[in-house]
Amino acid sequence: MIIEAFEFTLKDGRKAFVRSPGDEDIPEVLDYLYVSSGETEFVLRYPEECGKYTWEGEKALFDRVNAADNEAMLVCFVEGKIAGLSNIAWSKGLKTRHRASVAIALLREYWNLGIGTRLFEELIRIAEDNPQILQMELDFIEGNSRARALYEKMGFRIAGVKPDAVRLKDGTLLNEYSMVRKIHREA
Ligand SMILES: CC(C)(COP(=O)(O)OP(=O)(O)OC[C@H]1O[C@@H](n2cnc3c(N)ncnc32)[C@H](O)[C@@H]1OP(=O)(O)O)[C@@H](O)C(=O)NCCC(=O)NCCS
Repeated sequence: MIIEAFEFTLKDGRKAFVRSPGDEDIPEVLDYLYVSSGETEFVLRYPEECGKYTWEGEKALFDRVNAADNEAMLVCFVEGKIAGLSNIAWSKGLKTRHRASVAIALLREYWNLGIGTRLFEELIRIAEDNPQILQMELDFIEGNSRARALYEKMGFRIAGVKPDAVRLKDGTLLNEYSMVRKIHREA
């Protein structure tokens, strides 16, 4: 789906702008995928794995997400540059369409400015606007205290742990935690 674009003010006073992705964003999104993969261990890819992302692949993804009624992507811009992306998606399956998955990753220079908080407010609003959604779900990797703090602040609670779900290049094994946030509906 195409989201209604909006603006907000960062903790440092700058303005941020959020909208759905378009073809004009593709080169910068490809850069963002590469750079963000090298700035933190807490995303599920290394920079050298980003070769699989292509202009055509991103175009197909954006076209699909923008046309779908069960997914949305939020692109956040600061001073005209992409600061990060966030998305929400839910299945159409009768047994699982009450569960929406969400994810977010920002470039390092934009951490701790309140972007995650504002994007999550929007993801929660989208979930609340779709009456069949009863819970939002996400995963984070052990040690990602910033992400965990954000998610707990936004009402997510740990629901389970997958031991040794991630293996870094040096062999370090890290757990992956699943979190759930219930959407309360009037009976
Ligand atoms: C995790 C991430 C999405 C958070 O977004 P953000 O815009 O930096 O978060 P915000 O600024 O909105 O809020 C972060 C909160 O955590 C707090 N925080 C920051 N670092 C923290 C830490 N190490 N431990 C605990 N809390 C921390 C901040 O004080 C802030 O709380 P407040 O608003 O009550 O002051 C972002 O940092 C990011 O993209 N990181 C890299 C990729 C990533 O880890 N993605 C998530 C994968 S699950």
